[in-house]
Amino acid sequence: MTHESEFIPPMPPRQTRPLGLWKTAQVLRHSPVEILPQEAFQFTRISAPFLGRTVHTLSGPDEMKAVLQDDPDAWRKSPLIQRMLRPILGDAILTAHGEGWKIQRKVLQPGFVRPRIMALIPAMSEAARTAADLIAELEPGADVTPALNRAALSVIERALFTRANDFDRGQIREAIELVFSETGRTRFTDLLPLPETTPRILGPKALKARKTLRRAVEAEIASRRRTGRPEQDILQLMLDARDAAGAPTLSDRFIRDNVLSLVIAGHETTAIAIGWALYILACRPDWQDKVRAEAEQVSTGNFTADDLPNLQFTRQIIDETLRLYPPAPLVGRQAIRDTQICEREVKKGDVAIIAFYALQRHNRYWDRPDVFEPERFSLANRPTDPWVSRPFGGGPRACIGSVFAVSEAIIILATLVRDLAFSVPDGFEPKPVMTVTLRPEDRLPLIAKRR
Ligand code: HEM
Repeated sequence: MTHESEFIPPMPPRQTRPLGLWKTAQVLRHSPVEILPQEAFQFTRISAPFLGRTVHTLSGPDEMKAVLQDDPDAWRKSPLIQRMLRPILGDAILTAHGEGWKIQRKVLQPGFVRPRIMALIPAMSEAARTAADLIAELEPGADVTPALNRAALSVIERALFTRANDFDRGQIREAIELVFSETGRTRFTDLLPLPETTPRILGPKALKARKTLRRAVEAEIASRRRTGRPEQDILQLMLDARDAAGAPTLSDRFIRDNVLSLVIAGHETTAIAIGWALYILACRPDWQDKVRAEAEQVSTGNFTADDLPNLQFTRQIIDETLRLYPPAPLVGRQAIRDTQICEREVKKGDVAIIAFYALQRHNRYWDRPDVFEPERFSLANRPTDPWVSRPFGGGPRACIGSVFAVSEAIIILATLVRDLAFSVPDGFEPKPVMTVTLRPEDRLPLIAKRR
């Protein structure tokens, strides 16, 4: 049954027939989320042989819990992800395993506790006001994503460094873009069962961009050491961490790679979620008005931490956006020993594709799953099982920045919609593709008018 006001925003195509090797490689290169077959939205596990291994595509809460939460030590991040990220991020929190990962997570965790995030709300509000000014200056129909990326980058920069000294923000953004465009696309050779330690060759442009990023972060570390003035930020947590013998827990190289990991994991993901939410609101003036009315009632100036709980409808828009457009739609794991997924045998070497995207649009767990409906996340209707929507993953390796990201997205969306009126250029419909994150292929042109 279709309802008159039902809104089904664009979605990536699904496979209706098994793909051969060559076509699989093509789809993975273009947009890995398109590898998912229609069945993944009806069943919870599909196992199929692929290049001498069994690949298990998981799209049910129990199957995901089995891998991510119940037996995480039986799995490692997939060699494909390792080979793509290691040349840029080394063995920092995103890519490390075992004891090395545990130590780094323990050092960073205090940087993401609620009081620390709440202390960042003024920086988020400020970044939001700057983004509103930038977007207001754009030609009607220009891409809003650079302004959103810039806002998210300035917030993560503030969380890491309090006051960054020599950060050339334009250069950093460009370098991140470059590194992403080189490393973010799957290559045919990535599908070969090579060990994760086989490095991926970086092209000269990516090497240069990596150098730029590393130098910028190394300069910040050196400057903090020089001034010796302690700050309440994530860099300080890393500099101060000591092991049982009183020696520094992290070398400067690890500190640098963790800074880069947080910048890379934490800014485009959040910016793209805000972008999708803006697009939805630009399509639906009724919801846009509701977000605006809520925001205006809460504050006409910069939002504070106390305002956050009162931006409830804005939060529903963000939660529903993360359900339909999870910025990280799939994550991969490889079994390092024989294990089980819900009592079904898994052999060492098998691969699991954990498809949050399919879970969050699954026929079994969602009524009219492809319809955008903010009421799904109202206080009365929120899902009782937190495992039916997992945009931030689950288990010990779940996103460290989930509260950070959701708070930031709420503050930025509420500010933008309060201060500007958004609409969609005639005939424009974004095409969601997964290139590292799930984003609109041709960027996000919107019309924004100051109110
Ligand atoms: C909407 C925004 C975001 C989304 C959807 C998102 C999603 C995710 C997901 C799904 C994972 C798990 C990956 C896996 O299991 O393989 C993850 C891990 C991670 N995220 Fe986020 N993330 C977001 C924002 C952030 C922010 C703002 C930060 C930091 C400031 C951050 C830092 C990290 C880190 C460090 C990890 C690795 C954790 C570990 O392995 O211990 N993320 N994220």
